[in-house]
Amino acid sequence: MDVILDYATIKRQASPVSIGAWRDPSLWRYLPLLPVADPGAHGTPLRAAGGTPLYRADRLASDLDLEHVYLKDDGRNPTASFKDRASAIVVARALELGVQTVTTASSGNAAAALAGMAASVGLPTVIFVPHTAPAAKVAQLLMFSAKVFLVQGTYDDAFDLTLQAAREFGWYCRNTGYNPFTAEGKKTAAFEIAEQFTQISNFQSSLSQWCVPDWVFVSVGDGNIISGIHKGFKDLLALGWIERLPRVVGVQAAGSPAVYEAWARGDEDIRMCSANTIADSISVGLPRDGVRAVRAARETGGFYLTVSDDEILNAMRALAQRAAVFAEPAAATAYAGLVKAARDGRIRANESVVVMITGNGLKDVRSVLQAAGEATPVAPSLAALKEKLSQV
Ligand SMILES: Cc1ncc(COP(=O)(O)O)c(C=O)c1O
Repeated sequence: MDVILDYATIKRQASPVSIGAWRDPSLWRYLPLLPVADPGAHGTPLRAAGGTPLYRADRLASDLDLEHVYLKDDGRNPTASFKDRASAIVVARALELGVQTVTTASSGNAAAALAGMAASVGLPTVIFVPHTAPAAKVAQLLMFSAKVFLVQGTYDDAFDLTLQAAREFGWYCRNTGYNPFTAEGKKTAAFEIAEQFTQISNFQSSLSQWCVPDWVFVSVGDGNIISGIHKGFKDLLALGWIERLPRVVGVQAAGSPAVYEAWARGDEDIRMCSANTIADSISVGLPRDGVRAVRAARETGGFYLTVSDDEILNAMRALAQRAAVFAEPAAATAYAGLVKAARDGRIRANESVVVMITGNGLKDVRSVLQAAGEATPVAPSLAALKEKLSQV
């Protein structure tokens, strides 16, 4: 299902100029383009989702022989992942509907986002995550007082159980690729990219329009983030607020490549695949929003590629060491894709690229330690320190 907007009415009510005048930096500045009422709840995390920074990453750009690389750091959301965007809109919708309980299946981040946004307005949540979900993500859920079920199966099993439970108990279900309001939250990243890119790049724009980068790189599991971002750019194009769509590139882990495989075959038939990668958030056997995810690349002139777990670990190191952005494996996957695409000559040096960084590295410290190596133990004396330093 897709939410259809009334563009003619939006055009009468809002413009890049009127939105630019809003002081609220969160995603709620785009309220005229959102299919929910203002949820109120001022001063809460629900009200603070989005508004994440877009950084220039010149050192990474020079590593890749590119000139214009930007990182959109969505690890800076209230619960530290991109998923806060979707959950904010879903919780606003749940408040409108007056539901008593919200539920979701998740590899971890969507659940933490739902539990956090819901906790901020006192709405109970029931969460289903695979038993393999990283401890930090489960800890977040429990602290947000969600009722948490560790499903003894895969994310795909958790997904199906959530749908059955929602039907049985009348809970409002946020499942990715099932609830159309998630993509409406995720599209706000596209709005921010356009608005912020116009502000910080030197590319020409008029007051009544925003401009967009040439490329946007997105890591893909279920395919709802890339679909939502594509939808956001399409909304802006339909409104005449941008002149063209950026090319959207989907990056999957080689161990979980179902959307890539459909794209590579040239069809939209999403077939069950392996789901085995260090990037737990994008470890998905049967992507639930795969068809729209394939279209996001196809309709914008983008493409799909896969990267190995080693390439993901290298990307985590590069992001941290060369741009001070701390990304979880699934988030670094998008950058690993850019590294590969740039090395293969698929991006021209003077083209501009935004890489979506979708989650913070603290979400999965075990993987981070694999990428970062070990700290050095030292006895508390200068002599011991000197000896250790001499060994480095
Ligand atoms: C950090 C992170 N990056 C990327 C994704 C992929 O999003 P999608 O499953 O919508 O493709 C997820 C999904 O859980 C995520 O948590």
